[in-house]
Amino acid sequence: MSNSTIHRQAIHVLFVCLGNICRSPMAESIFRHMVERASLADRIKVDSAGTGAWHVGQPPHQGTRKALMRRGITTNHTARVVTSADFARFDYVIMLDSSNLRDVRAINGSSVAQLGMLLDYAPQSGLRDVPDPYFDGRFEEVYTLVEQGCQGLLDHIIATHRLNPRHKQS
Ligand code: 4NP
Repeated sequence: MSNSTIHRQAIHVLFVCLGNICRSPMAESIFRHMVERASLADRIKVDSAGTGAWHVGQPPHQGTRKALMRRGITTNHTARVVTSADFARFDYVIMLDSSNLRDVRAINGSSVAQLGMLLDYAPQSGLRDVPDPYFDGRFEEVYTLVEQGCQGLLDHIIATHRLNPRHKQS
């Protein structure tokens, strides 16, 4: 079998926060944008979910949409709850803060997924938790942190899976 006929499965990445309307859909959209810019959209698939059900079916918070739009990034995500099935479907489940990690560990059955914290991929941030902008509206600060984490995570996945990123001229 030549290299070109080997079936290469995509790597699936899920971002998880509390409500799935502020931080994790922001991470999903930024990460997908980076993946597309690296011409890796056929190799890396991205989604997001929340541990709480209050906002299921809703689009991302206006603060998240504005921060994304400012950078020309769009989203059509609708909020959903993380389920035990996600841990079999996703290779990486990446939490936005440590309470998300605790909550996810409580529902995580037979896991294929590697569980991680987004800011562990951004040691330069000096933080472990991405603060929740839902109550204080600090979406721009959150954007900077999430972007750093996403870049570190993408670098990690590219190195671990020996992917070949190609940067698009755009
Ligand atoms: P997120 O923010 O976890 O970043 O989506 C929140 C959204 C909604 C609520 C809390 C946090 N809430 O309590 O409804």
